[in-house]
Amino acid sequence: VNHLLGIKYLKEEDIQLIFETADHFKEVINRPIKKVPSLRDITIANIFFENSTRTKLSFELAQKRLSADVISFSAAQSSVKKGETLIDTVNNILAMKVDMVVMRHSHPGAAYFLSQHVKASIVNAGDGAHEHPTQALLDSYSIRERLGDVAGKKVVIVGDILHSRVALSNIFALQMQGAEVRVCGPKTLIPKYVESLGVKVESNLRQALEWCDVANMLRIQNERLDVTYFPSTREYVQQFGLTQELLNSLNKEIVIMHPGPINRGVEITSEVADGPHSVILDQVENGVAVRMAVIYLLASKIK
Ligand code: CP
Repeated sequence: VNHLLGIKYLKEEDIQLIFETADHFKEVINRPIKKVPSLRDITIANIFFENSTRTKLSFELAQKRLSADVISFSAAQSSVKKGETLIDTVNNILAMKVDMVVMRHSHPGAAYFLSQHVKASIVNAGDGAHEHPTQALLDSYSIRERLGDVAGKKVVIVGDILHSRVALSNIFALQMQGAEVRVCGPKTLIPKYVESLGVKVESNLRQALEWCDVANMLRIQNERLDVTYFPSTREYVQQFGLTQELLNSLNKEIVIMHPGPINRGVEITSEVADGPHSVILDQVENGVAVRMAVIYLLASKIK
């Protein structure tokens, strides 16, 4: 398949191939000359219908490090605002001889829909609350880098699981690699389907942390909340906010992750986010190498 639409479409060996390829590219981007000429004949469009800092810049850098030609498109400044449809927009971009489209969209399934209707390789950069496959890949890559392996590790994902594409892609990726996954958060922000995926729900953060090797802290996605929900931010901080005091009381070391953007002082304090067990900026660094690997492997099927 010429697309990366979600982790659920991958096999474990695909993930291992992406990681081995990313290992090579991580070495490349740490050299004085950070570029390779591999994709000089490939043109990629990054089309973003939702805001992004890390994913958009990381994809752009990954593509430039591979020497691809890159165009970037923000829906907010485009003719989408005049009523142009998604398919018309993308077909017009493809008419300019573009080979691959990286898309972020607010609708779950948007990347899959596009893959069925246009002739280009599609990479899902986040589709609503559905999947964010490259985020899950870079998260697992960062666990592998810090702990040597993902298999056998215990990972808790804490926070707003209901609105999180990061949570769903991580559940698929971690389980595929043999990790055990639990989620922890307020009942109103835990979707009913998680238990059917073999994921245990923890309502107590301390107990979740006592169990895990890795804690992936998610933010409350206020922009996706369309109902009044419990708890309030103050109550959330009290029950689910990760503090240094709580970590110190555990007598064990936990790898701390966060996909960003962080709401400092809500799901995580600055002391923890910037502390020695945090791999938050390693995740961002690894995102470039992992996305280089994904694009390189997909492009090799186009050529
Ligand atoms: N982690 C992540 O997707 O961040 P952005 O929304 O800034 O791309």
